[in-house]
Amino acid sequence: MPAGLQAKTKYIFSVTNAVPEFIDVEKYSAAARDIIMREGKDLAPYPPPSGHEGLRGLIADNLRDKRSANVDVDSVLLSDGAGGFIKLYLDAFIDAGDVVFLEEFSYLGTLRMLLSKGAEVVHIPTDDQGMDTEELERAIKAVKAQGKTPKLIYAISVFQNPMGVTLSLERRKHMVEIAQDYGVPILENESYADFRIDGDPLPPSMLGMDDQDSVVYVSSYTKLLGCAIRLGYGVAPQPVLDAMEARRPSHVAAMLVYEYLRHHKDDHIESVRKGLMARRDALLAALEEHFPPSCTWTRPQGGMMLWLQLPQGADTWKALDHAVEADVKYNPGGVFRAGRDCNNYLRLTYSHNTPEEIHEGIGTLAEVFRQQGFFE
Ligand SMILES: Cc1ncc(COP(=O)(O)O)c(C=O)c1O
Repeated sequence: MPAGLQAKTKYIFSVTNAVPEFIDVEKYSAAARDIIMREGKDLAPYPPPSGHEGLRGLIADNLRDKRSANVDVDSVLLSDGAGGFIKLYLDAFIDAGDVVFLEEFSYLGTLRMLLSKGAEVVHIPTDDQGMDTEELERAIKAVKAQGKTPKLIYAISVFQNPMGVTLSLERRKHMVEIAQDYGVPILENESYADFRIDGDPLPPSMLGMDDQDSVVYVSSYTKLLGCAIRLGYGVAPQPVLDAMEARRPSHVAAMLVYEYLRHHKDDHIESVRKGLMARRDALLAALEEHFPPSCTWTRPQGGMMLWLQLPQGADTWKALDHAVEADVKYNPGGVFRAGRDCNNYLRLTYSHNTPEEIHEGIGTLAEVFRQQGFFE
């Protein structure tokens, strides 16, 4: 990873934090007090292996109401963030040499886990409709023809990290069909489903479309409620859960999340939506002002990041050190690829700085890229 990502800078376009102003400490502390008064004695024994039952019920209700998936409470497993669930799943099912299909650029945490296991990562072309499922099917056939095992399709189907795109309804249907026909399960990561800002309603989850246990689902409250609470969950058929080495996340965290969401979920999501909208719009306006037409970028309808393409030959990996000297950091495109290539791209997140700071920081970044000769 480029060293510049660890540097301290004023303008940070490289992290996806929960936004600090949305942590209402009065409401958080009231929720903590109320639930400990009610359920505090449950802190003495080890909690149920799948985690707090009330929260799992709330998750199942939410999946039914918001993601069109009817799931049994017993198929929901609480985890240390989405990353915790992904790790348990990959540890149970992925071995060296297994072939895993990812979007053209993908979440670096999962990518790192796969690479450290020695899995073979195949990136599939991805456009504004999400992963190209025709290309996916072709790639699966090619892998089978080589006598290798296509083991998993990993899809970040909502406001994809890092590209910001959502997998279309048609492609969701096709991906589920492919999973069923070729016996290659999908790990559907909807960690950003609560972060819709505007535009089209989200298509239903693939979890809800599948009737053959071909989809395992993962999501998280980390970015919504606080990275330090770091609570996530997954949904999987019982034999899959049985094969995973369950590690109970903090029961106190689960209790707090449950009590807070019971009372404030919709209001919280709405205030995060408004805050992210102001930041996204500031970022889009700043890009319009400071970047030339030879650069193109996505206009995300949700989530907390956009994807920027610079002219061929630009190297955002090398330029990061210069940006850091100017007090700005971002993620070079290569960190989201197994081969660390395609560095004329970069990811810009908008969850950290205020709209005013975003404007200043993007002006500075454009200047750095200009000095590097990426554009006039
Ligand atoms: C797509 C995606 N999945 C998983 C994670 C990790 O989530 P958590 O912090 O809940 O483990 C992230 C964090 O950036 C992410 O973007």
